[in-house]
Amino acid sequence: MSTDLPYLDLNRAMWNDWTGPHLESAFYDVEAFKAGRSSLNQPELDLLGSVTGQRLLHLQCHFGQDSLSLARLGARVTGVDLADQAIAAARQLSQDIGVPAEFICSDVYSLPGQLPAGQFDVVYTSYGVLGWLPDLDRWAAVVAHCLRPGGRLVLVEFHPVVWMYDSDFTRVDHSYFNQGSILETENGSYAAPGSGSTHQSITWNHSLSEVVSSLLGQGLSISSFREYDYSPYPIFANAELVGEGQYVVGPLGRKLPLLFSVVAEQGVG
Ligand SMILES: C[S@@+](CC[C@H](N)C(=O)[O-])C[C@H]1O[C@@H](n2cnc3c(N)ncnc32)[C@H](O)[C@@H]1O
Repeated sequence: MSTDLPYLDLNRAMWNDWTGPHLESAFYDVEAFKAGRSSLNQPELDLLGSVTGQRLLHLQCHFGQDSLSLARLGARVTGVDLADQAIAAARQLSQDIGVPAEFICSDVYSLPGQLPAGQFDVVYTSYGVLGWLPDLDRWAAVVAHCLRPGGRLVLVEFHPVVWMYDSDFTRVDHSYFNQGSILETENGSYAAPGSGSTHQSITWNHSLSEVVSSLLGQGLSISSFREYDYSPYPIFANAELVGEGQYVVGPLGRKLPLLFSVVAEQGVG
């Protein structure tokens, strides 16, 4: 699906403006991160397994906490993000903690012009990424371009059912299916709700079949596909902790899928 909207400019401006408040936020807790805390959660740790020595491309890395957590585990990490202020913050964080990683400021779709084909053992991307991209077939083509033969994609993402609801989970506002761009006004952010900022953003809803068929369309094989009844982040209304690192939407409990994950492998032939 193509778009004529200036979605990259609008979304970049928002993510740039959110970077400063996020660096200061309790949500990201940069001081604890600098002191050694990993920002990775159990779902991705389970799926990634050992990354020691692996060349890992982290798409939509924000200001690099997950990228650098993976580098701390021994991966050779390249992080990519659209927002130049997030990338500048990621480079600074890398220097501050003395953990090397490469960071590239780029639209995901422009990567094939910047990275040679087949250079990565793992492409990793997680938690709030696909909705910023209008066309998952183009995204899957970038993933396939970047992976070496036998390399794998690890995706952990919020479940598309979540994006059907209003922010209080009381009303279905949007179709489950991709019916084109969604223009919204964001007051504050998930990590800094009181920052006082107001931005317009443009996103797309992508159903699970859209995700899966985009990867199959590039010839990748899906070796793992899961849905989860919790989120590791308390970012939804009435979040309730129901297990270690497991939050649900209060009144709905474990009835609602909040995450899904996919591992997909590039063929060797
Ligand atoms: C929700 S954040 C990812 C969060 C990450 N898991 C974390 O917790 O830090 C989404 C990121 O996608 C980036 N982004 C949005 N559109 C993009 C695009 N077209 N290409 C590359 N990055 C993009 C934003 O700048 C933002 O940093």
